[in-house]
Amino acid sequence: MTLLALENIRVAGLAGAGSVGTAWAALMLAKDMKVVVYDPSEGAAERLRAGVEAAWPALRALGSANQAHPPFEALRFAASLEDMARQSDIVQENVAEALEVKRDVIAKIDSVLASDRLILSSSGGVPPSQLQAFCSHPERLLLGHPFHPAYIVPLVEVVAGEKTLPAAVTLARRFYEKLGKHPITLQKEMTGHLSNRLQFALLREAIYCLSEGVASADDIDAAMRFGLGPRWAVMGPLMTFNLAGGDGGIEQILARFRTDVEGWWSSLGQPSLTPEVCDSLKAGAQLLRKGRSNAEWSAWRDRELVDFLSYRNAHPYAGDDPANLGAGAAREVAR
Ligand SMILES: NC(=O)c1ccc[n+]([C@@H]2O[C@H](COP(=O)([O-])OP(=O)(O)OC[C@H]3O[C@@H](n4cnc5c(N)ncnc54)[C@H](O)[C@@H]3O)[C@@H](O)[C@H]2O)c1
Repeated sequence: MTLLALENIRVAGLAGAGSVGTAWAALMLAKDMKVVVYDPSEGAAERLRAGVEAAWPALRALGSANQAHPPFEALRFAASLEDMARQSDIVQENVAEALEVKRDVIAKIDSVLASDRLILSSSGGVPPSQLQAFCSHPERLLLGHPFHPAYIVPLVEVVAGEKTLPAAVTLARRFYEKLGKHPITLQKEMTGHLSNRLQFALLREAIYCLSEGVASADDIDAAMRFGLGPRWAVMGPLMTFNLAGGDGGIEQILARFRTDVEGWWSSLGQPSLTPEVCDSLKAGAQLLRKGRSNAEWSAWRDRELVDFLSYRNAHPYAGDDPANLGAGAAREVAR
């Protein structure tokens, strides 16, 4: 079966225009795609336009949007899911994270979207094979799981289901790359995919340490901001672990500390979200907010992320081209 070629994918259909659908719309408009949206909730069109307007300064700062203002003439609202799918060259599904909602939505899209076009789901938890069960053309369905806010954070996890064509995975990756995203491809389905598993492993220990009184919420976040976070943002946890062994690398760590590492693992916490643990989380968040609203914090986070990613774009990861390993030294000399 031949899928619609990347250069012919010009109209993106979006099912659902909540926070994720809005982020996709902003990014796709910035990348000169036509976007057609269906969302039945009251005021969805106005919220979507306001969300795209709010995302635009970040898209401009990242160099993702060439136009000074969002090209709203390229944005249409459809009368139904089927109407949206009929007009689309590709569909990204972003409805609520509940199998019974997604099942209905995916089945309707699949029933009218031409069979050579991809259905991509933003689902953070539902494995794609479960969604394929409701499709007549399951071979073109897969997951493209973004990270919030999806118009800024580059990662998208591409996850195939049991029936997904390998060519659909390739096409989805190329589609996301064209949008300026950084796709990774999972080799098997697993609940929470990859990044949510990593995130929740760390979050579980942070909550455990907070509830056990090991450190304050401020200091737990500081441990990430000043220690683990910068190293992980530069190169990820596995390369960080390798470098912890110095010149001897991971081989030396395993030779010397294998049983110690297993000992640390066995001491990690298994907290439950009891009322007491929830209270300490709420109290911690209140402390961290310093009397400011979450909206103020979110806006600040987005500006910080834009600055960080602008730096990253200008200074590529050395693993993409080991010739860049000397780049830091060159900058040092230039200073
Ligand atoms: N919020 C995040 O941080 C995040 C990150 C990555 C992925 N996701 C995933 O993206 C999806 C959407 O998440 P969200 O946070 O945008 O949810 P949301 O609740 O903000 O938005 C869902 C939207 O879907 C609409 N909707 C409901 N029924 C519909 C239907 N039949 N047809 C079309 N639209 C319909 C709702 O009106 C709502 O606007 C979920 O699967 C979630 O797991 C969320």
